Amino acid sequence: MTEHSPVTYRCEGGIAFIEIDNPPVNALSAAVRRGLAEAMDRLANDADAQAAVLFCAGRTFIAGADISEFGKPPVAPFLPEVIAAIEASGKPVVAALHGTVLGGGLEVALGAHHRVAVPGTRMGLPEVTLGLLPGAGGTQRLPRAVGVTDAIDLITSGRQIGAQQALDLGLIDALAQGTDPRAAGEAEARRLLAEGSGPRRLSETPAPAVDPDMVQAWRAKVAKSARGQVAPLRALDTIVAGLDLSFAKGMAQERQAFMDLMQTPERAALIHAFFAERRAAQQDDPAGVKARPVARIGIIGGGTMGQGIAASALTAGLDVTLVERDEAAAAKATGGIRAMLDGAVKRGKLDRTAADRMLDQALRAVAGYDALANVDLVIEAVFENLDVKQEVFRTLDRVCRPGAVLATNTSYLDVNLIAGATARPQDVIGLHFFSPANVMRLLEIVVADKTAPDVTATAFALAKKMGKIGVRSGVCDGFIGNRMLLAYRTAADHVVLDGASPYQVDRAVVDLGFPMGPYQVGDLAGLDIGHATRQRKAPTRDPRERVPVFADRLVESGRLGRKTGRGYYIYDEGSPQGRPDPDMDDMLSGIRSDLGITPRPFEAEEIQSRYMAAMVNEGAKILDEGIAARASDIDVVLLHGYGFPRWKGGPMHWADAQGLDRIAADIARYAEDDPYFWQISPLLARLAAEGGTLADVNTGKDAS
Ligand code: 3HC
Ligand code: NAI
Repeated sequence: MTEHSPVTYRCEGGIAFIEIDNPPVNALSAAVRRGLAEAMDRLANDADAQAAVLFCAGRTFIAGADISEFGKPPVAPFLPEVIAAIEASGKPVVAALHGTVLGGGLEVALGAHHRVAVPGTRMGLPEVTLGLLPGAGGTQRLPRAVGVTDAIDLITSGRQIGAQQALDLGLIDALAQGTDPRAAGEAEARRLLAEGSGPRRLSETPAPAVDPDMVQAWRAKVAKSARGQVAPLRALDTIVAGLDLSFAKGMAQERQAFMDLMQTPERAALIHAFFAERRAAQQDDPAGVKARPVARIGIIGGGTMGQGIAASALTAGLDVTLVERDEAAAAKATGGIRAMLDGAVKRGKLDRTAADRMLDQALRAVAGYDALANVDLVIEAVFENLDVKQEVFRTLDRVCRPGAVLATNTSYLDVNLIAGATARPQDVIGLHFFSPANVMRLLEIVVADKTAPDVTATAFALAKKMGKIGVRSGVCDGFIGNRMLLAYRTAADHVVLDGASPYQVDRAVVDLGFPMGPYQVGDLAGLDIGHATRQRKAPTRDPRERVPVFADRLVESGRLGRKTGRGYYIYDEGSPQGRPDPDMDDMLSGIRSDLGITPRPFEAEEIQSRYMAAMVNEGAKILDEGIAARASDIDVVLLHGYGFPRWKGGPMHWADAQGLDRIAADIARYAEDDPYFWQISPLLARLAAEGGTLADVNTGKDAS
């Protein structure tokens, strides 16, 4: 083995132990591939070794190909060749699995002759989630191991399964009792030797028969669930085509499909999203900054958000004290939290005993603030009103111990003003959860002017503990996400004022890949919220601002959305889908004529272009002002909080891929009619002129 190889070979008692040690997740870097190839040579020539055990050090068996190598020129030896060498071994090779055996990792295991897993191991071929398909034999070997239907299911969804299910499917041969993969592999190898079992190669197993009706049904299913994406259908085709070919030819067409997908914008976007999510958590904090320990948290307000935050915190193992205005409200909040945990138990996400323990021992809902004297961190989630919140923070300042972190879940209010209500603004931060807070993974961490670095670090540590993706934001109206939302919703409203129907806008936005259009979302959230905000802002509104009069008209006539059965859509009893309102056209025509607007037709393409341009322009302003530290953080917010299609990578990545000059030119054109709304971000204009990208902008805020 070459010096410093991440792969070591040691023969003990007739068994070769081939160990991969390539932290953090034993990805198949070029050095690992080389090390494995050398180990197989050595095995062939080692007269003492009668069998081999392939296993990994650290937290997991191989978690896949090294994603950071994608998009760069490939380096030999290539993975399919390495796996072919493992499979070709004349001595039985056992793959001993633990952790998360994913992608190329599972393909290596499929190349081995036997597979044993320790309890808790998870397995999957997640390549489609990266815009790819299994490119090292997965589409050919998996159907031979588990059958065509399950192979299609696993490969086109990219989902993971547990060790027991893998055993039931025939993906692994044995489930070990103990937790040590090396020992499990050795036991399996000794059993094989005792039985005299030799190598058993999936490539030599006949391909299973295919039922064309089943394939047709899967094709329809995948086309629907993977709307807008290419990889899942290509994966399905590759599996099916391979079954009619020799194994070698099947491998060749898989390789071609893999290389084709490697070139797609979908692959680049999905891998961007993968790294953007991990980068968001990386804070360039001054050396030595440590998070404050958090075990007990307080929550003020047990409404929609307070309940969701409490359920999420309990599930993460935290002790929760929830404060409401009176005992009745506290009891109501407890009931809501119980229902959320019961739901998690029902969905198999949480164990019943654990849920009961959380509710009985880790949750306290009370009416007095004194119960917060000893908590480590408080999250305020009361009404969205500055006076109310400042009063709460004055009280917290009085009752909480020194050093406790005081956080607000405000959606729009100025965190500096909230912090200013206390004598300890350094301990105050915004923690903007998304609804439903027990489900949504996004957490905007709003760092105010005086927030101490260790308080920011504590917020990121809390996000991680709660299984959330924390994204840093500066203070501004709406922070990153809601500020972007306002911009692209406004662009949509202008299009409706000028002649499109809300239904046409929703369709165009859904065609972009969003799960819902802005008017469907409005109906779901309740139209009264936007109406109240517009009323509040009316006295200071710039006269050039165009108001969505139609939205106010709906609210004034009692149409608040789904909750009243009518909003932009009509919701018939038991139909959450909603149908277009035949009277909408007349209402819009009346409003347009009152405003002196001559309506014009809109193509879907223009609607989409305006929607995206408004989003990108606002994102560039947010970046330029240092509200977001990096463009990729904005992408993470839109991906996880606003339904942006993941396979487009987020609005900033999308903009770079389109070319900023094109977007700047669109904005300039739209500004001819409405220069007030379409003020181009100076950063965007400069980058467009210079040929730069948003991805390269770093505001340096994360170093502050
Ligand atoms: N390649 C390179 N780096 C990887 C990686 C991979 N396949 N998987 C994880 N990493 C890195 C992460 O970027 C992160 O780095 P950082 O600490 O510098 O940010 C570090 O490993 C730890 O990752 P996580 O923070 O995600 O750790 P978790 O414990 O939460 O999750 C995991 C571990 C489940 C393995 C998760 O990282 C994951 O899902 N990884 C991707 C797995 C995958 O998609 N594999 C398929 C690759 S494609 C392939 O194999 C093609 C083949 O068919 C030819
Ligand atoms: P809500 O109206 O459902 O709940 C607020 C709760 O706070 C009520 O139960 C009320 O009794 C309680 N409360 C009010 N004053 C209190 C006080 N002084 N002490 C103790 N309890 C008090 O409101 P919701 O939707 O949960 O919003 C709460 C906060 O979260 C707001 O700031 C909102 O902007 C923010 N937010 C809301 C989101 C949403 O989608 N609903 C998303 C993200 C943030």
